[in-house]
Amino acid sequence: MKRKIIAYNFVLTEALEQLDDSFEVEIFDGINPKTDIAFLHALKEAEGIVGLALPVDKELLDKAPKLQIVSNNSTGYNNLSIDEMSLRGIMGTHTPGVLEDTTADAIFGILLAAARRIPELDHFVKTGNWKQHLTTEQYAIDVHHKTLGIIGMGKIGSAIAKRAHLGFDMNILYHNRKRNIEAEGKYNATFCDLETLLKQSDFVCLMTPLTSDTENLMGEREFKLMKKSAIFVNGSRGKTVDEMALMTALHKKTIHAAALDVYRSEPLSPGHPLLQFSNVVTTPHIGSSTFETELKMANLAVENLIAGLTGKRPKNLINPDVLNR
Ligand code: DGY
Repeated sequence: MKRKIIAYNFVLTEALEQLDDSFEVEIFDGINPKTDIAFLHALKEAEGIVGLALPVDKELLDKAPKLQIVSNNSTGYNNLSIDEMSLRGIMGTHTPGVLEDTTADAIFGILLAAARRIPELDHFVKTGNWKQHLTTEQYAIDVHHKTLGIIGMGKIGSAIAKRAHLGFDMNILYHNRKRNIEAEGKYNATFCDLETLLKQSDFVCLMTPLTSDTENLMGEREFKLMKKSAIFVNGSRGKTVDEMALMTALHKKTIHAAALDVYRSEPLSPGHPLLQFSNVVTTPHIGSSTFETELKMANLAVENLIAGLTGKRPKNLINPDVLNR
């Protein structure tokens, strides 16, 4: 009898080829996990599931009585109810260590895009409006030699600091749960409290994971503390930001601009009021989305899945307590 696996939300097929004949894989891309009958039917038999951003909560787990492992095809795992999974002895894994540089490139890219108004001016050229020299209203702001405040100096935060320090001569401030001595030594980063970071930075880059401590970390008070000339960048998760407070800050010009890769609700709806702001650069959660890195992540996710189902300890196990049961 083959062991049933579900792959969802576009796991690269090259990675799924690691699964040998002892497994039977059903693929569900772009489904609604609450209403898709075929998915819910497959869930009843599934021993392992692998994919991106599926909300794995009590309701879903109740429908998956044979489940042994959820292999998240991402580094962030705020979509998993880990406590609930641990209670049932279900392993959770993720894919750290392969996407840091790629994500740092993307986040630094949107920072540059917002500062230099690249999407706005691209639109200006493509719509045939470039008929004379730029007016002073169209000027941008410099990035080099400015102060970058990074909230969340983990591996991706450090990779952003590296680009900023070595490539752009930026002064780096950071706020983190604990000090990152390596980033201090390599990138001359200065540890400070959140308030100091917000007050002194020209760019505030949010890179924390989403937890109960970081939910709505950036709200009305925090945006008010920022410089009027500052740009806010979010490469963490949408729920770390109170989007209403962000829009108010943009509207009242409490801050200069924003660059966002993540949103409270994804995909962002076409009518979302954030889209009205010409000084907001938006990308569709592209941090890790390159061919090379997506393949590394998918391979790692499938390796974790196979390890968990063949009695080995998955390399990136989030809840090792389940092994002691
Ligand atoms: C991650 O790996 O957490 C990226 O944000 C993709 O979800």
